Amino acid sequence: MGAAILLAFFLAAALALMAMTGDGIRLLVARRRANRPPLRLVVTERVDLTPDLFRVRLARADGRRLPRFQAGRHVAVRAQVDGRVLRRGYSLAAWSPRPRAYELGIRRETRGRMSSHLHAQLTPGAGVEVSPPAGAFVLDLQDARRVVLVAGGIGITPMRAMVHRIGCLPARARPRVVLFQAARLEADLAWADEFRALAEEAPWFRYYPVLSRPAASWSGWRGRLDAKCILAEGGSAAADFYLCAREEMMQVLIGQLRQAGVAPERLHWESFGINAGGGWHHPVEIDGRRIASSEGTPTLLHALEAAGIDVTAECRSGECGNCRLRLEKGEVRWLRQAPAALPAGEILACCCVPVRPLKLSRVRFGTEAETR
Ligand SMILES: Cc1cc2nc3c(=O)[nH]c(=O)nc-3n(C[C@H](O)[C@H](O)[C@H](O)COP(=O)(O)OP(=O)(O)OC[C@H]3O[C@@H](n4cnc5c(N)ncnc54)[C@H](O)[C@@H]3O)c2cc1C
Ligand code: FES
Repeated sequence: MGAAILLAFFLAAALALMAMTGDGIRLLVARRRANRPPLRLVVTERVDLTPDLFRVRLARADGRRLPRFQAGRHVAVRAQVDGRVLRRGYSLAAWSPRPRAYELGIRRETRGRMSSHLHAQLTPGAGVEVSPPAGAFVLDLQDARRVVLVAGGIGITPMRAMVHRIGCLPARARPRVVLFQAARLEADLAWADEFRALAEEAPWFRYYPVLSRPAASWSGWRGRLDAKCILAEGGSAAADFYLCAREEMMQVLIGQLRQAGVAPERLHWESFGINAGGGWHHPVEIDGRRIASSEGTPTLLHALEAAGIDVTAECRSGECGNCRLRLEKGEVRWLRQAPAALPAGEILACCCVPVRPLKLSRVRFGTEAETR
């Protein structure tokens, strides 16, 4: 009898887990990973690719190996900026089976606090604290015959690691790879020389750079990428698609690819952050304080931060769940689909803007470790 009850319990637990959405699992995994001890690394090399785009290599001071990771994962950099501790995710831009260094490619954002700080501080010899690699955006090579990588701007970083990973596979196991790299100007095409050289020598790899504002001398593709040209050059709808670009560009492409018959399980994407572009102005109440106007800030999270209100946030794109708040009064507009696993009455500050005056309160996370 006891065994039967135990079995029923395990079955119920397994069913509950299966019923959880991918969102729910991502939120849990991200929260557990956030508690792992950080790695203290030093900058061993820095190369400025443009005035706003640079790449750095980070290693342990004693040269010991670093934790291995799956291509597509990111680290969270932690730094004190203007008296506040900030954490931001940065994808690992290179892959090797036994890494002794992590490579990052960082674009400095106008008014961006962490990216401007790192641009100024990450010079050879500087120390930096990062979380161990994590993230759900990983290259899945099971049954992969053809892999299509689509990168917009700095979204090229995880794609480069994926290309490295596939390059290390034995020839018989290696899928064909097509990489689309979209940028505004030719100078913004980070690592284009490396990709061009690989496309010349490797029969499994094709590379299409696309510019939206090319110089007259540019002889490659111009304009905006769309699913039609991705499918025409990238092969069948049965390929595996990995996308990383601005949220709007990515959502348009995902919609087009789905309409063209690509199955949802073949579409994988990662957002580097959400930006509504401002244009809202409703007061927000939280912690007994009232923020009178938030006009111009891209999301509710930015508005709270600009007013000096601490909200723990890591991914800033609806993945980690750290910025959960309870909506006591008012209404928000979601800038991306709300995760199905989010408890009723809660919002993610990084994914919302107010459409009415708001009253918010803090969420109490389940365990002490989760109270961040
Ligand atoms: C998984 C993951 C991987 C990532 N990988 C990379 C990577 O490889 N390379 C990379 O460069 N980035 C990457 N990012 C993005 C990175 O984490 C940061 O979000 C990015 O560097 C910007 O951070 P920031 O602090 O400089 O900008 P923030 O200060 O967070 O600002 C973000 C944007 O909002 C605007 N803004 C901020 N405050 C205001 C305001 N008050 N009014 C108006 N506008 C405002 C800024 O202009 C900026 O454009 C990744 C993100 C994630 C989630
Ligand atoms: S969900 Fe990660 S910061 Fe908002």
